[in-house]
Amino acid sequence: MTTSEWGNQLYFGDNLPILRERIADESVDLIYLDPPFNSNADYNILFRETGGQQSAAQITAFEDTWHWDVGSELAYRDVVSNAPGKLPELLQAMRSFLGQNDMMAYLTMMSQRIVELYRVLKNTGSIYLHCDPTASHYLKLLMDSVFGAASFRTEIIWQRSLGFKRKSAKKFPQKNDIILFYAKSLDNLVFKTQYRPHKPEYIKRFKKDSDGRLYRDDVNPTGGGRRVIYLDETEGEIIDSLWTDIPPLNPVARERLGYPTQKPEALLDRIINVSSNEGDVVLDPFCGCGTSIVAAERLNRRWIGIDITHLAVTLMRHRLQDAFKGELKPYAVIGQPQDLESARALALESEHDGRYQFEWWALGLVDARPAQERKKGADSGVDGYINFFDDNSGKAKRVVAQVKSGRVNRGQIATLRGDMERERAEIGLFITLNPPTGPMESEAAAAGFYTPEHYPDSGYPRVQILTIEELLNGKRAEYPRLAPEATFRQAPRRRRAAGAQSRFA
Ligand SMILES: C[S@@+](CC[C@H](N)C(=O)[O-])C[C@H]1O[C@@H](n2cnc3c(N)ncnc32)[C@H](O)[C@@H]1O
Repeated sequence: MTTSEWGNQLYFGDNLPILRERIADESVDLIYLDPPFNSNADYNILFRETGGQQSAAQITAFEDTWHWDVGSELAYRDVVSNAPGKLPELLQAMRSFLGQNDMMAYLTMMSQRIVELYRVLKNTGSIYLHCDPTASHYLKLLMDSVFGAASFRTEIIWQRSLGFKRKSAKKFPQKNDIILFYAKSLDNLVFKTQYRPHKPEYIKRFKKDSDGRLYRDDVNPTGGGRRVIYLDETEGEIIDSLWTDIPPLNPVARERLGYPTQKPEALLDRIINVSSNEGDVVLDPFCGCGTSIVAAERLNRRWIGIDITHLAVTLMRHRLQDAFKGELKPYAVIGQPQDLESARALALESEHDGRYQFEWWALGLVDARPAQERKKGADSGVDGYINFFDDNSGKAKRVVAQVKSGRVNRGQIATLRGDMERERAEIGLFITLNPPTGPMESEAAAAGFYTPEHYPDSGYPRVQILTIEELLNGKRAEYPRLAPEATFRQAPRRRRAAGAQSRFA
């Protein structure tokens, strides 16, 4: 595919089939992956509350706990039977060492994906695997077996925590993540050394000459003897494997969107600047709230992002829009239902796995955010919210939304009206896969209209029934859109890099 035919791609779904079916051999220049880790933690996501503060309400975005199950056994057999090179032997050895535990399940799932990532990477390309010391030693072996030990370039230590650490149980407090950097081959590898400004201690070692230039006498490392170095002729301090100069996102950082594993854009800027050129293709198969794709877009790279939750895909769409506004290059969202049939399939799938994918996706169609933490099977009424402003009080007003994928009846509209009252919402949306009945429409009409105080000539139906089919055909929820969207935390506006790259990463 030529550069002019290319469109950036945001995929919803499991990255394994997407890599296998949609991404061509040797088509990617740089891969960054930050897979969910085996930490036995659920990743919760925070949203902005009506007044703009962070909500205490959390929702489980995905669970990163791996368990050895039938799926792991099948994945294991797949790798042992089909993976190239030494990986089958390595995985068998790991299984005899680890047994059938959660770590083994995680490593098996990673093995399948590393094989595909190797296949899609160009010969000049690089891959950065972000992990932590709990599994980095095992992952390095997997990477060695697929990419070859000679292709290992650097173990980058990223200091991800700046603060004071509490005493932890008989071990040193963990302050860093590990990023394993591998090349596919060393021939024509893209690697552009980056620099940071010199430290004051280094600059202090220079003296002023008669013209006021800073210089120092130094031993010539190549030919013996001495040489003179002028400070203004040095490029800065070379970035080495210890990255202590990229702070983590603090809880109030403007960049922070509330996605718990969100990485700082500066980290991705560095990786992209070192290991790719403008126009290159950057792939992030576990892209979360899209840090790598925002950095790639800003640095004029092409990109492919993949994530398995509709929530992440919705967040990324908002982030890209907020960050680049009209300058955003067109991109395709692939894998989300585009028609009624695939919406039904997603609803059925969600019913079986007890997760909220259908609900998240349907809420995404009206740009609503999901409501608070949900327990499996519990029907807490309101599924999502939209905040809007229609006056200067600084206080957001609220739309509440319910999503239904099953049979619907008039009583549910009455319940929605009750929920609206309880939540002090101006407008209620009833989003349904199946068409509403006549009595439902009458019940909705009986709720009347919402008229903002300052816009007495406008009116918005208080209860709106929206079918998935109508939403797929472009229908929108009606509520005052007079001020910037207030529902999602807004990503700060980003300026696209103007051609040449900065020397400083
Ligand atoms: C650690 S987070 C990535 C965070 C990201 N680097 C950022 O800055 O936002 C891992 C992501 O992988 C996604 N994920 C987990 N399993 C996946 C799979 N099989 N395919 C695609 N995405 C997956 C999760 O939904 C989650 O968003």
